[in-house]
Amino acid sequence: MANRPPLEARLTAPTTKAKVSVTRCHDAWYVGCESKELKAKPLKVTILGIPMVLFRASTGTPGALLDRCPHRNVPLSIGEVDGDVLRCSYHGWEFATDGSCTHLPCFTGEPNTKGHAATAYPVREQQGFIWVYPNTEGEPDSQPFDVPLLDDARYTHVYQIVEAPGTMHATIENALDVPHTAFLHRGLFRSAGAGNKIDVVVRRWSDRVEAQYMGEPRPEGLVGRLLSPGGGEVEHYDRFYLPSVAQVEYKIGDDSHILITSLCTPVGDFETKLSTIISFRLARLPEWVVGTLLKPIGKRIFKQDAEMLAQQTALIERFGGEQFVSTEVDVLGGEIWRLLKAAERGDAAPNDEAPTIKHLKMEV
Ligand code: FES
Ligand SMILES: [Fe+2]
Repeated sequence: MANRPPLEARLTAPTTKAKVSVTRCHDAWYVGCESKELKAKPLKVTILGIPMVLFRASTGTPGALLDRCPHRNVPLSIGEVDGDVLRCSYHGWEFATDGSCTHLPCFTGEPNTKGHAATAYPVREQQGFIWVYPNTEGEPDSQPFDVPLLDDARYTHVYQIVEAPGTMHATIENALDVPHTAFLHRGLFRSAGAGNKIDVVVRRWSDRVEAQYMGEPRPEGLVGRLLSPGGGEVEHYDRFYLPSVAQVEYKIGDDSHILITSLCTPVGDFETKLSTIISFRLARLPEWVVGTLLKPIGKRIFKQDAEMLAQQTALIERFGGEQFVSTEVDVLGGEIWRLLKAAERGDAAPNDEAPTIKHLKMEV
């Protein structure tokens, strides 16, 4: 019999030879859903184009199965959870969180737990999220990303879960791209033509990259004024951590600190889910005031980004591929691509070595 490629490769086989910034890294943890979403009913999710069903056993243990009953190929997500098993709605086969088949109605023998099993994926529950490892080749040797500050009581945390119509590369580049903020989000954060010359230091590791922006006065837009009414200087970092975490950090004025961590899930080649945690501690305003005002502004900013990503994705599709021209102020786009490609090849190991450093200047 011919050697068949693994299931994940068959489900996500490339459909086009055009140049598009799509990577498919299966050796990684991605957010499937928030813990609070996983209650009594099975939940349908898609990661890297793979249809999956998540469910929670009565013990609290979460499970992630391929959303396909091994018996006659109906979706397990239309089944029901009963105690510790997920029951298929067609003939009632029952599956535990590890995929093993525990009951076969009408069948007088013992179920072959392995032979009749559903395909299961490794799952972890951590910091309020259900993480899934979309690879059936064995237990992963890595852990999901540890979100900083989530356990720090001095900070307020606001969550925003959204789907962006773009590749993971385009979506993460957008989240970490400075030059578009003065144009696309004009007046909300930065203003066009402010004319501040700032220094940028880019630090590159084999599993992450960081850009530090120095010398920017507090931006004049709404968000800047809200975060630091008294002005001051901004200390700003943009970071990308493999496989799929975008992080933006601002320290503004004397004591305002905001950390925005986006855990990205590649739903499909051109669809990326962002589970974003905005953690902040502010010097001069009560957190609830800012939380109430920041949320709608954050939604507006995301809507503008999502519309631009949709335009970009549609045009790349129409032209049958992309053609990018970049300058050095497209600081992280190329770096993100380098890292995503390395992760897809499987040669991006975490390390604590000294980074390589690049200096540049830009105007904001
Ligand atoms: S199709 Fe699921 S039990 Fe038959
Ligand atoms: Fe943006």
